[in-house]
Amino acid sequence: MSNEVQPVGTARLLQLARDKYVATYGCEPVVAASAPGRVNLIGEHIDYCEGFVLPVTIPFETLIVGSYNETDKCNILSVLADEDAQTSFPSSSAESLKPGPPTWSNYVKGSIANFPDPVKGFDAVIVSDVPIGSGLSSSAALEVAVFTFLEALTGKSVDAIEKAQLCQKAEHDFPGVPCGIMDQYIVTMGKKNHALLIDCQSLEATQIPLELGEYVVLVTNSNVKHELTGSEYPQRRAQCQQAAEKLGLSSLRGAKREDLEELKRLNCDKLVIMRAKHVIEEIYRTTEVAKSLRRNDLERVGKLFFQSHESLSKLMEVSCSELDELVDIIRGAPGVLGARMTGGGFGGCVVTLVKRDEVDNLKSIVLKEYSGNPTFFICQTNDGARTHIL
Ligand code: GLA
Repeated sequence: MSNEVQPVGTARLLQLARDKYVATYGCEPVVAASAPGRVNLIGEHIDYCEGFVLPVTIPFETLIVGSYNETDKCNILSVLADEDAQTSFPSSSAESLKPGPPTWSNYVKGSIANFPDPVKGFDAVIVSDVPIGSGLSSSAALEVAVFTFLEALTGKSVDAIEKAQLCQKAEHDFPGVPCGIMDQYIVTMGKKNHALLIDCQSLEATQIPLELGEYVVLVTNSNVKHELTGSEYPQRRAQCQQAAEKLGLSSLRGAKREDLEELKRLNCDKLVIMRAKHVIEEIYRTTEVAKSLRRNDLERVGKLFFQSHESLSKLMEVSCSELDELVDIIRGAPGVLGARMTGGGFGGCVVTLVKRDEVDNLKSIVLKEYSGNPTFFICQTNDGARTHIL
């Protein structure tokens, strides 16, 4: 069906990268690594409050091939979004790396700069089919793919949790986005046919088998991106932190429903109380979804999805008219158990729990009724970051 985006597939991506490498550098690459994108099933705007999140990997991924070049320069050819872009910068053993144009190179530099050992010069080609700017974590996929490539290139392996933290730091320091740990964590440690329940306080995680029977998770991309994201995300983080501090807590993880009354009594800002309410209830919903998946109670999962969307739209105020419109259209369609926006918000995607038999019907309803240009994919899960034999 049209409007369906298909993953290119690892074997084809690997071939593409290898061909480009040979054409550009005149020899074969020796190391290859990849990392997938992700969608979050539930637990939104919660990771930076040390709560629980429940993301899954998606079948789209970013892949890098390369070899040492015996110089003190890193030369990178990126074939992201069907366009070739070339950049060169000093290796981390030659000079300290600094953020700078082109924008995409900052994700690569960030991973190199945060790699525990100095990295000598290398040539590389990066290819990807992760849709960019759609809230599917193309940035974490790139950071973690590069980091995994560096592990293979240098022979130094890094503990998986530490690796996720270093890649998160790469995103803080280089592109300058104050993200939580969720994206880098799932992209590093995701597993096929599982969702990952991550405790963002202890950083422990539990693999939850994703057995949906006659249901699937359909991802609908609104294909809109509002430029609000840059300023609004840090503001939400700050408001949640403010609520925690008012309550004498280090994060909202320890807050309870009764604390909302306490915040009112302390004359806390109305918006701050709304954010805190979202966080407290979303942490509960996330653990309930994990339990319901284990019990195979998909109807309850669906209800919690709708509640989560409502809360992200009305209390956290990170949705937008297009995402609200999509969820409203999807809500009334046959075979749908639940739907919600996923990721940072202000555009991006909606996840829907829907009967497999009704997917085509749902797509035609959305295509007919949605005012924008949606694209779709069924969320088949993938393995997290890994290396490949060339
Ligand atoms: C972005 C951030 C994540 C997380 C989500 C919202 O994807 O990178 O850390 O905060 O938004 O849940």
